[in-house]
Amino acid sequence: MGEEQNILEGQVAIVTGAGRGIGRAISEKLVESGAHVVASDIYLSNAEETAQILNAHRQTSIACQVEVADVASLDSLIAKSEENFGKVDILVNNAGIMFRTRILDISAEEWEKTLKVNLTGPFLCTQAVLPGMKERKFGRIINISSSAGRSVSTLGGAHYTASKAGLLGLTRAVAKEVAPFGITVNAICPGLIDTEMARKTTSEKELQDFLDSFPINRIGTPEEVGDLVVFLCSNKASYITGASIDINGGDLMI
Ligand SMILES: NC(=O)c1ccc[n+]([C@@H]2O[C@H](COP(=O)([O-])OP(=O)(O)OC[C@H]3O[C@@H](n4cnc5c(N)ncnc54)[C@H](O)[C@@H]3O)[C@@H](O)[C@H]2O)c1
Repeated sequence: MGEEQNILEGQVAIVTGAGRGIGRAISEKLVESGAHVVASDIYLSNAEETAQILNAHRQTSIACQVEVADVASLDSLIAKSEENFGKVDILVNNAGIMFRTRILDISAEEWEKTLKVNLTGPFLCTQAVLPGMKERKFGRIINISSSAGRSVSTLGGAHYTASKAGLLGLTRAVAKEVAPFGITVNAICPGLIDTEMARKTTSEKELQDFLDSFPINRIGTPEEVGDLVVFLCSNKASYITGASIDINGGDLMI
């Protein structure tokens, strides 16, 4: 393997929502770059399937069942990560949910569930990894927000937009606090990416209409998001923190 492939050699990454879609592609890209990955998801069988795919590259990953908004579940995630790999260098807060419900129909329960997974989850995961990162004076935290967080969601409801905008605020606040400890915190804001989340919540025709309106008129791939995560985790990105980085085919230019 060349130097480029090994830019994260020996680093340990936790990826949430790694059971499918963008989280799985991020995990694959991290492993291709030399990292160990703890593939975590609320669905253990999906996380195990991801770990199996990763271990086909080389024996380097484990699966873990995690509910991102449950502190006890996160305690065991950190314990399992440290037990297997001794440390956590990278956290990718990727797990997320989206409902298309319009404002007057959003129940308090659906509002809370969306905020809990998309915003409280990343907050709690960040709290869980920070003590170790501060002690070792190194860390990379990547929050998967959305174009929704920068502007307004194409598909999701107000709760989705609010949660993803909140995640950008969390990114900046934590980035400022932890910079003295060698830890960077950044957000990635994808537009439409080809996963079950996007396909299941839109019709073929609606999707095509969106894509036709984009300057780069195709859907983004999970792997393209994974490449950006690897870059932000690498030493090449050591002066980038508190940033919200768009990857959307030009759909949103601000
Ligand atoms: N696909 C897109 O077009 C798009 C665009 C912008 C942002 N995003 C964001 O990217 C991230 C990944 O999206 P995706 O398209 O791969 O979605 P997906 O639905 O395909 O995958 C999400 C994964 O998160 C897991 N998950 C859900 N709730 C969880 C919880 N409470 N605890 C642990 N795991 C949980 C799911 O089981 C699933 O494996 C999400 O945060 C999403 O909001 C996606």
